[in-house]
Amino acid sequence: MSHIFDPKKFRKLESPERKKMLPVQEVLSFLPLSSSSVIADVGCGIGYFSIPFAETAKEVIAIDINEIMIDELKNRVSTKNIRMFLGDFSDLLEEESIDVFFTATVIHEVDNLESFTKKAYDTVKSDGYIVYLDFIKKEMPIGPSYDKRIAKESVVSLFKSLEMSDIEVTTISDTFYIVKGKK
Ligand SMILES: C[S@@+](CC[C@H](N)C(=O)[O-])C[C@H]1O[C@@H](n2cnc3c(N)ncnc32)[C@H](O)[C@@H]1O
Repeated sequence: MSHIFDPKKFRKLESPERKKMLPVQEVLSFLPLSSSSVIADVGCGIGYFSIPFAETAKEVIAIDINEIMIDELKNRVSTKNIRMFLGDFSDLLEEESIDVFFTATVIHEVDNLESFTKKAYDTVKSDGYIVYLDFIKKEMPIGPSYDKRIAKESVVSLFKSLEMSDIEVTTISDTFYIVKGKK
């Protein structure tokens, strides 16, 4: 099982099964998001989170390295407070420019998570947050193989190594975890 999501299967990201397993409202209720927040959704895919985030946040910056995803997202967006970019977030986001750096089912695809997280940290304002959502590290019929999964404890250690505070962890439907930490 590859750990890189096949972009041609983008419709799986908005399937009814996924909506049941990963309810956006449950994720939103854990996020430090308000009407004044600028949130970056890195690895946004087709906007499963970016689009609903735009109903709460002041601005959503949706970034993906895959063109198919960004093109699909453009077809789905109808509000003005979502800006969409194809590319590497570290080339696109200014230092200390965002309130929340969010990724969903992306970190298991990242080659060097430590370096990725340090760069993410730099983009966040002081008192801003990094939030990582990913698959729980256990064997299951969906998602990446066990060896590619990142344990939530590893994310917590990474956040602690950056001296982040207010670290909190939650799980969603026994399949996903979310870790958030404050800069
Ligand atoms: C499984 S999809 C998840 C999409 C979306 N976050 C969601 O939950 O519906 C993973 C996405 O992350 C993107 N991705 C992987 N590594 C990335 C990186 N370093 N920067 C930006 N996007 C990345 C992939 O192109 C893909 O669209």
